[in-house]
Amino acid sequence: MKLILLFIIPIYVFAVASFITEDEYASSLYQNPRGIGCDKCHGENGKGLLVAKYESNGVQKEFRGPDITLLGFREFYEALDTRKNGMPRYFLTKDEIETLYNYLHKEKK
Ligand code: HEC
Repeated sequence: MKLILLFIIPIYVFAVASFITEDEYASSLYQNPRGIGCDKCHGENGKGLLVAKYESNGVQKEFRGPDITLLGFREFYEALDTRKNGMPRYFLTKDEIETLYNYLHKEKK
């Protein structure tokens, strides 16, 4: 009996410790998907961010992550499923893309 408890207790503790809410999961996925976080270029709430200013051939230029909160789900999904200029390709699953989309639109739910 004691031996069984010895096995069950760690499993129980692990299950409780690794439980996170859907919101926490979405937030961590947005900040750390695979490699560089979306927030680094699109801002904390996806409203867009000026990442860098630089000069190229004497012309002032900006590198900016656009606002991604105004897109419909289809456009959002397609943008993440194709190659975008200046944006890393992530190869996220449909579930992950849905989680991110809901995260950026949680106030509208
Ligand atoms: C290194 C900076 C960078 C990171 C990191 C990044 N993006 Fe982007 N993203 C961009 C840039 C720049 C564009 C604009 C590309 C273009 O106009 O072709 C863009 C475009 C998009 C678009 C399409 C916007 C539109 O109006 O069509 C979506 C959606 C998007 N990003 C979502 C994400 C999500 C979700 C993540 C995290 C998984 C992410 N991005 C991470 C830089 C980044």
